Amino acid sequence: MFQVKNELNFSQEHEALVVGIFDANKKVEGFIGEIDTLLEGQVTKLLKEGDISSQSKKVTKLHTLGKSSAKRVYFVGLGKKENLSFETVREAFGSLFKTVSGDKIEEVAIALDTFVTDQVDGFDVSHALGEALPLATYTFPDYKQKSNEPEKNITNVIVFSDTDKEEIEASLTVGYAYGNATNSARTLVNLPGNMMTATDMANYALELGNKYSFEVEILEKEDMEKLGMGALLAVNKGSVEPPKMIVLKYQGKETWNDVIGLVGKGITFDTGGYSIKPKDGIVGMKADMGGAAAVLGAMEIIGELRPEQNVVAVIPSTDNMVSGDAFKPDDVVTSMSGKTIEILNTDAEGRLALADGVTYAKQHGAEYLVDVATLTGGVIVALGNDITGAMANNETLFEQVLEASHETGEAMWRLPMTENHKKRVRKSNVADLNNSPGRDGHAIFAGTFIAEFAEDTPWVHLDIAGTATTTSQYELGPAGATGAMVRTLAAFVERFEPINNK
Ligand code: BES
Ligand code: MN
Ligand code: ZN
Repeated sequence: MFQVKNELNFSQEHEALVVGIFDANKKVEGFIGEIDTLLEGQVTKLLKEGDISSQSKKVTKLHTLGKSSAKRVYFVGLGKKENLSFETVREAFGSLFKTVSGDKIEEVAIALDTFVTDQVDGFDVSHALGEALPLATYTFPDYKQKSNEPEKNITNVIVFSDTDKEEIEASLTVGYAYGNATNSARTLVNLPGNMMTATDMANYALELGNKYSFEVEILEKEDMEKLGMGALLAVNKGSVEPPKMIVLKYQGKETWNDVIGLVGKGITFDTGGYSIKPKDGIVGMKADMGGAAAVLGAMEIIGELRPEQNVVAVIPSTDNMVSGDAFKPDDVVTSMSGKTIEILNTDAEGRLALADGVTYAKQHGAEYLVDVATLTGGVIVALGNDITGAMANNETLFEQVLEASHETGEAMWRLPMTENHKKRVRKSNVADLNNSPGRDGHAIFAGTFIAEFAEDTPWVHLDIAGTATTTSQYELGPAGATGAMVRTLAAFVERFEPINNK
């Protein structure tokens, strides 16, 4: 996909030449100045008249009418030089690749150094570029008789840079792995529920495990019964689809210690069960395995980049259905941890699946936990559709996850957890816990419920109900699944540092 070259000259033939343009470039100099000379001052003129825009993320295409060996030049607006951020560059490249693929161009040559500033160096720029290409050009193959498969894809990106070639190549590759794995997660989420059952997800995990030599364990219903996973089994009870507890292990250290547990909610379709969802609220519930997809996407990056970390990924997976066998409000179930749960709402099923997932991750040696889940509508009410809700029982672990999210540009905001929340979750006449203390601030109750199973293990909870999907297209992707938290989880794992005084 990528070729890195040092020498950029105008005698080379290119379908498309790409340069970054800052506000200050209104008086063009350097490389853009050379293009300007070649085009007889047209660039300066068009910039002045506003026909080429330096506005952040704006892309302008210019035909060179045979005056340059590059047929077209794409100017990528970057705004004020001193304001440029990693995030802006990534989104600007997103706009570029959307435009270029819309123009059905297969080869692009990019003058990388025109994007570099004091704050955003060549490696950042190449990471952003590598990531933006797959993210921005992602499509989900639909099932129409006339398919939406693009006729042409960008297959060749030539990157010109004066900086160290090997390191630029390495950054491009890392970014590309991040982008591609996010797309894998998007596809898992976009797949309809009838094509992405727990069995399908287990098969996908097996393939991933094969490719990256992860140790894979798939628990069947009988195994879960033996292990006493009564919470996950309760959710599955009304289904004809067998549940799966999916475990992937990646060992990047000599010994199996300081293990990070990533636990993803894998509800392949959520009807709500007997506390059934209204007809409008049920549409889209194929995406209720977004947490599982995020974990699998992160594992793909981990498999590609092989950091010196130990990771166990745990995905409790089933659909949540109604039938004569289904679990009901007022039922009491016993989780794998031994804690009993009074069911007050069968639509609060994610926390039940995660309860056993978290316990099982600990049993596999997880000393740190991050769970990811499309857990509550409440988090959407609280934070909207572009901020992930976070909760934690450990400041240092939360800081590390937050730091990762800053790098990836995936916003998150922490919600509080008080003694009062714990009291409400523990309030039941018949069991240790209840699964639905009420509608007031219920995103917090969901997290607090999971905290009961993390116990003393440092834990961060990410509620992606709002961020896992989007209704409109954006610079780095189309409408539909976003692949939220794939990149943040991977960045967190890559840079993870064990905590001394947990
Ligand atoms: N899967 C849903 C949460 C959800 C809602 C995800 C909207 C994506 C979009 C979850 O299982 C659920 O139903 N939560 C309930 C909890 C309630 C019963 C306490 C909710 O948020 O209404
Ligand atoms: Mn539900
Ligand atoms: Zn759900």
